[in-house]
Amino acid sequence: MNVAIVGGSGYTGGELLRLLIRHPKVEVTQVTSDSLAGKAVGRAHPNLRKVTDLTFTPHGDLEPCDLLFLAMPHGNSMGRMREFLGRAGKIIDLSADFRLKDPALYPEYYGLDHPQADLLPKAVYGLPEIHRDEIRDATIVAGPGCVAAAAILAVRPLAKAGLIDTERVVVDAKTGSSAAGADGGPASQHPERSGVMRLYAATGHRHTAEIEQEAWRVYRQAYGTDPFVRIVVEASGLYRLPEPKILAGTNFCDVGFALDEHAGRVVAVSALDNLMKGAAGNAVQCMNLVAGYPETMGLEFIGLHPV
Ligand SMILES: NC(=O)c1ccc[n+]([C@@H]2O[C@H](COP(=O)([O-])OP(=O)(O)OC[C@H]3O[C@@H](n4cnc5c(N)ncnc54)[C@H](OP(=O)(O)O)[C@@H]3O)[C@@H](O)[C@H]2O)c1
Repeated sequence: MNVAIVGGSGYTGGELLRLLIRHPKVEVTQVTSDSLAGKAVGRAHPNLRKVTDLTFTPHGDLEPCDLLFLAMPHGNSMGRMREFLGRAGKIIDLSADFRLKDPALYPEYYGLDHPQADLLPKAVYGLPEIHRDEIRDATIVAGPGCVAAAAILAVRPLAKAGLIDTERVVVDAKTGSSAAGADGGPASQHPERSGVMRLYAATGHRHTAEIEQEAWRVYRQAYGTDPFVRIVVEASGLYRLPEPKILAGTNFCDVGFALDEHAGRVVAVSALDNLMKGAAGNAVQCMNLVAGYPETMGLEFIGLHPV
């Protein structure tokens, strides 16, 4: 299958390239960037030096292909989706432009009116663990946000099983600086921002055996056969609950939970690499579904430890 990437000089574009260049069923035909047009892709992504001869082409020179990944900042694909559909039969958009079904939410959350709102119903929310069958037949797949993916995968089994009061859900999400993109602005200029984040004690009380057993059951039912969601709840040891550091470069989302008997609260914990299961890896997983390839193809990296 011939695929192209629009916005390939950014962080998710780099991860898409890293995955797709080694994908056995895919040829990357074009990668676009205006700022680096004509330059080798290694200029933006030094890990790809001597791995590929691809050079960036200007955004305006996009040629037809089988499947197109859009990796541009929010607001750039919403007005151009018809144009992109004219270039490729299948689109996987990593931005927020086609994630929301209700057009009225775009001015509220993104400060923009959606210019092609009639296409929103065509787009499938690209989280395979929830919409696997719809993704297989989709023309437009809207990749979820990284925080949304982590939060949904952690909380959904509990909500579905009726084990929690959905009015009282609190999502406390932490993410690395790469989530802001290569052009993240002054707020991202923090050389020490990356590193370890470890949740030491989610609750201070003993677990309630039956509730814990019930929570295990719903997570197993929800993710037992999902290749990229692992349930991580250990009674002892260093890695008792999900941790992002060991997931770097992998397509796993680790989910776990702890129960606070006294507060009547379950603390659901999830971790993922925002550029992988939170963006490019998940997009390649969706591509595999769209194309009928094995879902895990090209996503086999199992991570490093110690890192
Ligand atoms: N970073 C994450 O962890 C993450 C996770 C999930 C989803 N996403 C979403 O994925 C998308 C890409 O994120 P990113 O982190 O890769 O961003 P990024 O590092 O800032 O890269 C943005 C890319 O878009 C291109 N671009 C900018 N304006 C454009 C325009 N008007 N037309 C065409 N291309 C344009 C840039 O190309 P030039 O070289 O020409 O400037 C660059 O290649 C965003 O919508 C983001 O919200 C990101």
